[in-house]
Order: sequence, then structure tokens, then C-alpha cells
Amino acid sequence: MRKPVIAANWKMNGSAELCERFASTMVRPEYADVWLFPSSLHLAKLTELFRGSDVATGAQNVWTDVSGAYTGEISASMVARIHAELALVGHSERRATFGDSDAIVAKKFKIIMEAELIPVLCVGETLEERESEMAHLAVQRQLHAVEAAWDRSVYSHSVIAYEPVWAIGTGKAATAAIAQEMHALIREHVRMQGSGDADALRILYGGSVKPENARELIAESDIDGFLVGGASLDVDDFNRICESVKN
Ligand code: 13P
Repeated sequence: MRKPVIAANWKMNGSAELCERFASTMVRPEYADVWLFPSSLHLAKLTELFRGSDVATGAQNVWTDVSGAYTGEISASMVARIHAELALVGHSERRATFGDSDAIVAKKFKIIMEAELIPVLCVGETLEERESEMAHLAVQRQLHAVEAAWDRSVYSHSVIAYEPVWAIGTGKAATAAIAQEMHALIREHVRMQGSGDADALRILYGGSVKPENARELIAESDIDGFLVGGASLDVDDFNRICESVKN
């Protein structure tokens, strides 16, 4: 049995007050792992607020090097030093807006692993790729890029988030059937590549997850939790999503 994960990606939102509200009113379920990804400005505070609990925190992004003259960036080792445990990598907003190519994503994945953080590798196709029946190929290309850069067992200490670009922030989540098909494909890919324990790997779905659709999605056999954007900014909605994965 894979333990479900409910993860909050606050993106460029949130405040010190939101950190405190989460610390005081967020449910802390035993049946799921809860991970929080605030902005890097609030990461140290949120990590401190949840220190000693089962709730883990992580960075939304890190740079490809350990330290140096990279104005505006943070490194994976800095994230590890403040006792955060995770980092997102390859989010479609990073890929589309900030030029994170497959090669850069692979480098970031490697530096996150080297800092002994858990990477949450985000993959997903664009609408154009889906409409031209290239969704499978697009996701496999993104996975291959990381596998080529990290020759050890890539997915033994990492998590994959399938986030179709067309479902992010649009209010139009993938249907449970589409999400299940893509998650099964990813798991099969990992099995075929021998790049990790495919049965133990947790694959999260992201893209317009709400309290209203979480239960239907989590019922699918290869969906192991969620990476939640907009709905994770409201602690009540986030709590309801957490409750929906309880079986
Ligand atoms: P939304 O839940 O706002 O669609 O965002 C999903 C996402 O990008 C999580 O990383």
C-alpha cells in the first residue's frame, strides 16, 4: 500500500499570516503525508512552524549549483540546511515561463538528490501535445531526460507529479480516466526502465484539484495523492482535500 501524499504548492502566493493559519488549523492526518511548498521567502518560517511534526516542507525551485554568483536564486543545500525536506522540479510554470528545459530540469533533479532532499518531479503535456496525441511521448521525454542525468535508481527516493498543463489553473481537471491512464503509463515506464521500484513509487496528480473532485481522482488505482495549487491557499479547502483521501 502506498501512503497518499497531499501537497500544497502556493506558487507566488501566501504570507506570514497564511503560514500561521496553516500551523494552527491544518489537519494533520495519520493516513496521508502532507507536504507544503510555500514561496522561498516563507519557507524557513513555515518549516520552523512545523518542525518536529510529520508535516514536511519544501522549495518550489532551486538552482543547478551549490552556491555562487546567482543573484536571486537559492540552492538545494540551503533548503536542506533549514530542515526543509523536499523540492519541486520541472513544474510546467518553470518550464514555460522561466526556460527550464529538460536539460536544466535534469541538472536540478541531480543537485536536489545530492543535497539529500526528496525531489518531486513534475511532468505533463501541453494541450497541443494532447490534441496531437503526443501526450505519452511528451511525458516519456521528460522522464528520460532525468533518467539520463542520474544513473542510479532515479525514482527510489523521489516522487513524480503528473500535471497536464491544460489542467493547471483552468478549473478543468483531467478526468479520472485520463489521469489514471497517464499515471499507469508513468508507472509502467519506470518498471520497464528499471529506474526505481515502480510499485512503491508515489505518483501525484496536479491540475485543478478541488474538494469536489479529489475523491473521484484518488479512487483510481495509480493516483497516490495530489499536488494542489489554487485550492491549497484556503486551509478549509485543503483540509477537505486531505479528508477525501481517507478510505
Ligand atoms: P492548480 O491546482 O491551481 O490548478 O495548480 C496545480 C499546480 O500547478 C500544482 O503544482
